[in-house]
Amino acid sequence: MEVVDVSVLKSITRPEVFEFEGISMVNFFTENWENVQKFQARPDDILLATYPKAGNTWVSYILDLLYFSSAAPERETSVPIFIRVPFLESIFPGMPSGVELADNLLTKPRIIKTHLPIQLVPKSFWEQNCKVVYVARNAKDNAVSYFHFERMNKGQPDPGDWNTFLQMFMEGKKVFGPWYDHVCGYWEKKQTYSNLHYMFFEDMVEDTWREVERLNSFLGLTTSSKERERITKRIHFDAMKQNNMTNYSTDPVMDNTISPFMRKGKVGDWKDHFTVAQNEQFDEHYKQKMKNTTLQFRTEI
Ligand code: A3P
Repeated sequence: MEVVDVSVLKSITRPEVFEFEGISMVNFFTENWENVQKFQARPDDILLATYPKAGNTWVSYILDLLYFSSAAPERETSVPIFIRVPFLESIFPGMPSGVELADNLLTKPRIIKTHLPIQLVPKSFWEQNCKVVYVARNAKDNAVSYFHFERMNKGQPDPGDWNTFLQMFMEGKKVFGPWYDHVCGYWEKKQTYSNLHYMFFEDMVEDTWREVERLNSFLGLTTSSKERERITKRIHFDAMKQNNMTNYSTDPVMDNTISPFMRKGKVGDWKDHFTVAQNEQFDEHYKQKMKNTTLQFRTEI
């Protein structure tokens, strides 16, 4: 991973949160803003958009395997997923920015990750009619996963205790803004932009291959039964947890001993975190925030 200067990256300190373009942000996602906004998408680019912790790494890896695993098997053991699939708006010290990584990607298509809410996606993706894959995860599990992620990741603000985190999540003050607007924004876009495939983390856990087939059909791909067997093994939670190219063990900003990046990969883990009172408060607030959408989530399967 010679593109990363580990000692520089390792020395970063937790960022402050500030208001930026109407949402909460940190400098690591705003300092390259001009280049992000004028990013030149190509017609065959695939944009993989998610709220943080909704399963971006999982689907990044699936897309990478679907397109490139047979053509370039050496990528599998030598290139971490966060280099293969650049994180567009990111700019961390000691590492090329997401825009630089994307500009220098030699793959066709380029698979590009973003956490930006719909209104901040660079306009060239729409102008080029790029395929967009969105993955959404139910708010309760998403919040729990985000809380543990902030604990272990120095690139994020300190989450405080669980209750503090949860209140901020509900207020929409977490980095990348309100979960509610994020999932609904892409859901609404899908109604008018046919090149958007909307997926759910819960469906992936329930039947991963069914969802991969849906993705294949959106992308116009087919996989042989041999490929299916190979890919299925690799994208299992336990395999990705063991795989240093997908488990973020090579990212010096993250401390997997505090909480592993590949933490549980479950639906319903929120039940071990929410108190009865927190759950009631959350449900009441959720009803209000989501009253104008047809979007439905499952919090258990
Ligand atoms: P948990 O913290 O609940 O375990 P992202 O990649 O968007 O940051 O999302 C990370 C979440 O996706 C984590 O959730 C992680 O464990 C889960 N995840 C990643 N790969 C997975 C897989 N193969 N199967 C199930 N969950 C997976």
